[in-house]
Amino acid sequence: MVQPAGELYTNLTVCAMDGVLMESLEEQGLQPELTGEQLEVILELLARQTGLPLFDAYKESCVKRRVAARIRRSGCLDVEQYLHLLQEDGGERERLLTSLSIHVSQFFRNPTLFEALQTVVLPMLVQCTADRPLRIWSIGCSAGEEPYSLAILLVEAYGEQAAREQFEILATDIDRTTLAQAESAWYEAEPALRGVSAARRERFFTEQDGSFKLRPAAQQLVKFRRMDLQLVDCYPQADLILCRNTLIYFNRPAQEKILQALADILPQDGILVLGKSESMPAPLRTRFATLDPTERIYSRR
Ligand SMILES: C[S@@+](CC[C@H](N)C(=O)[O-])C[C@H]1O[C@@H](n2cnc3c(N)ncnc32)[C@H](O)[C@@H]1O
Repeated sequence: MVQPAGELYTNLTVCAMDGVLMESLEEQGLQPELTGEQLEVILELLARQTGLPLFDAYKESCVKRRVAARIRRSGCLDVEQYLHLLQEDGGERERLLTSLSIHVSQFFRNPTLFEALQTVVLPMLVQCTADRPLRIWSIGCSAGEEPYSLAILLVEAYGEQAAREQFEILATDIDRTTLAQAESAWYEAEPALRGVSAARRERFFTEQDGSFKLRPAAQQLVKFRRMDLQLVDCYPQADLILCRNTLIYFNRPAQEKILQALADILPQDGILVLGKSESMPAPLRTRFATLDPTERIYSRR
């Protein structure tokens, strides 16, 4: 994963205060004591400055742990100093935002799901949308591994030209850094390409100095956009939605609100895929039928 440009700043671990050299929390190996109120102030400041909504839909313990780790790594002596830094430094705000989201992903993560998409789901959806392009939305797309895996499948199954004409893949994420990496389409062999066969590497990637660049045949099928999943009124239309390993960070009411909104934009028989460790909450089962419980594939009723 590419390190943010300002990361060097965080390595300054000794700060001068009132003429006394003091060790930062990182140097002392301490986690800052972060109260609920301080967390709220930090998140409010982040929301005001970035224009993104408050993180009150995320699971609190998870957010608290990440903010504390960020304070520790920032070189600050305490929470007050960190608040000041956050106010002054746009780079730190981006770094905090990045650290609040987990970007773990891989090409063809959960390979059996991609087999099911290729052999069952895509052929079925293509039949239903014969007279217009099929719209695919990859939510929480991280550095592009998931939408590009789909693009590779489509080129393999339908050919480059037809894939371009018949499919639209929109990939969204909240994090700018990871989206910039997605758009660059450069990857390291490990861990991103671990699940890519030698034949696929050969056909779809160009190697340079040990890194791999996705070729245009698949890259051009995907459009990236920054979007916060909590802004349910901004959702695009889609026939197939991949929302994997992203809902997991939201609390139950937020998950249900998001899933209701996804049900609203899917047409009847449209498909939603969740992550392997995610499940459909009971109130949503009137809106989604389970097509494949193992692969977490659901069909809009
Ligand atoms: C673990 S990754 C999932 C990547 C991919 N879907 C997969 O399953 O391999 C979770 C992604 O969700 C994104 N994310 C977190 N909160 C979000 C939000 N409110 N709106 C949009 N994306 C969000 C993170 O930035 C991160 O890239």
